[in-house]
Amino acid sequence: MDITDQQSKGWLIGILAGGKSTRMNSDIPKVLHPIAGKPMVAHVLQSIRTATKANVSVVVPPNSKSIREQLDQNVSFVEQAIPLGTGDAVRQLQGISNKENLSILIAYGDTPLIKPGTISRLIAKHESSNATVTLLTSISSSPNDYGKIIRNASGKIVKLTEYSDLEESQLHNSEVNTGLYAFNGKWLWATLGQLKPSEKGEYYLTDLIEKAASSEMAIESITTENEIEGIGVNNRIDLAKVEQIMRRNILNGWMTEGVTIIDPSATYIDAEVKIGKDTTIHPNTSILGQSAVGQGCSVGPNTVIRNSIIHDRVEVIASIIDRSTLYPDVTVGPFSHLRPNTVIGNHSNIGNFAEIKNSMVGAYTAIGHFGYIGDSTIGNGVNIGAGTVTANFNGQTKSRTNIEDDAFIGSDTILIAPVNIGKRAYTAAGSVITKNVPTDNLAIGIPAKMEPMSEPKKKSWQIKLAKKKSCAKSKLGEA
Ligand code: UD1
Ligand code: CA
Repeated sequence: MDITDQQSKGWLIGILAGGKSTRMNSDIPKVLHPIAGKPMVAHVLQSIRTATKANVSVVVPPNSKSIREQLDQNVSFVEQAIPLGTGDAVRQLQGISNKENLSILIAYGDTPLIKPGTISRLIAKHESSNATVTLLTSISSSPNDYGKIIRNASGKIVKLTEYSDLEESQLHNSEVNTGLYAFNGKWLWATLGQLKPSEKGEYYLTDLIEKAASSEMAIESITTENEIEGIGVNNRIDLAKVEQIMRRNILNGWMTEGVTIIDPSATYIDAEVKIGKDTTIHPNTSILGQSAVGQGCSVGPNTVIRNSIIHDRVEVIASIIDRSTLYPDVTVGPFSHLRPNTVIGNHSNIGNFAEIKNSMVGAYTAIGHFGYIGDSTIGNGVNIGAGTVTANFNGQTKSRTNIEDDAFIGSDTILIAPVNIGKRAYTAAGSVITKNVPTDNLAIGIPAKMEPMSEPKKKSWQIKLAKKKSCAKSKLGEA
């Protein structure tokens, strides 16, 4: 039996996410605000899952489709009809608790930094001590933001007191309640009903501690390694603080795995991203969502990669890559934009100011300069000249452009889709292609014609030039 099996037997886990989120001042439930690209409550769930395989149930508000969608399939949900406090939220779990659930672990959905190891430690302590309640406390440098742990002269916990109810002498206590608790199930369900509402009309889960102490039940505690772990997110200032800590942890993790991060203070990597070793991330770069970057890549500076797969040895400079795949040895940028559903084959080069959308580009193809490729399939070894535009939209429908292997598209070619350019076909600079170009054919556009300038035109042009020259001279004189 490994540790998670051992820590799963007999346990039911509840995550509280039914609150009003008033202090966030948001239309989005607090627990869904992302930290490193992942909802706060999903971080809590992930830590719990690493520590134990026990069933998890999340207490949610009514109409909480968004919360349900953001969590994995293996959790159940119970509704708290009115947010009447943390004690009332836990009461909603009673209905799903069965007689095998001897112990109940409660976590709050707004404490995303609690580590799996700490959850394991709490479970182990609760089991070994056979306590009625076991708490996770934290020594905080801003203790007045939390409920405080009140101990008696012999150091035993006798009460948890919310800030608003503290007496003057308790204000300096720095040991606080993090909101992670293990309870004896039988005692919990028997005692929850005895909670009385606070002045605000809320049932505080924390009031259970005084009840346990006054009936001489054993109360145990463990403490976090540092105060950071115990941070609860109540407002957007807390959110930014936790975001920064989480991001730094992620970066430290990747640096340990062999990724070079030139400036961690200007690098943003989401929680779910994967990166191969000997990749270098340059400053002002974000790698977001479900992205994966291979080995030996160079990403940035000034780059955003979102939900994309970047294979080995790819180089991206100052560009945006969104929902796209880059095969090995591709180079992109500076200043290109790869929009969703774009695939670039190995060794291809996407240079400056190129926009590519919903297109497949083969291997060893060059799109080295400004241009727009949309809804296209481009083969291997193709050269796309500067200023090439696929005219994919006629105002009503979008059509595809197909360019076969080894074709050469001259600068400033406009390809009016739907259109097919055959293998090794060649379009001359400035041509407007309205019909398919067969294999090995050459398509030439309308060349500009030479004619003498009309007299009035010549005159006005010469006046303009003279003005320009005198203006430049007087500026030189000034200097
Ligand atoms: C709570 C604790 C406090 C502790 C702090 C730790 C209580 C009374 N106080 O205060 O001692 O120091 O957390 O971060 O428990 N929730 C519900 N239903 C409700 C109310 C809340 O599900 O009716 C959920 C919230 O969504 C949230 C969690 O419970 O995820 C905690 O609620 P919150 O209002 O943030 O409690 P705090 O005031 O931070
Ligand atoms: Ca809180």
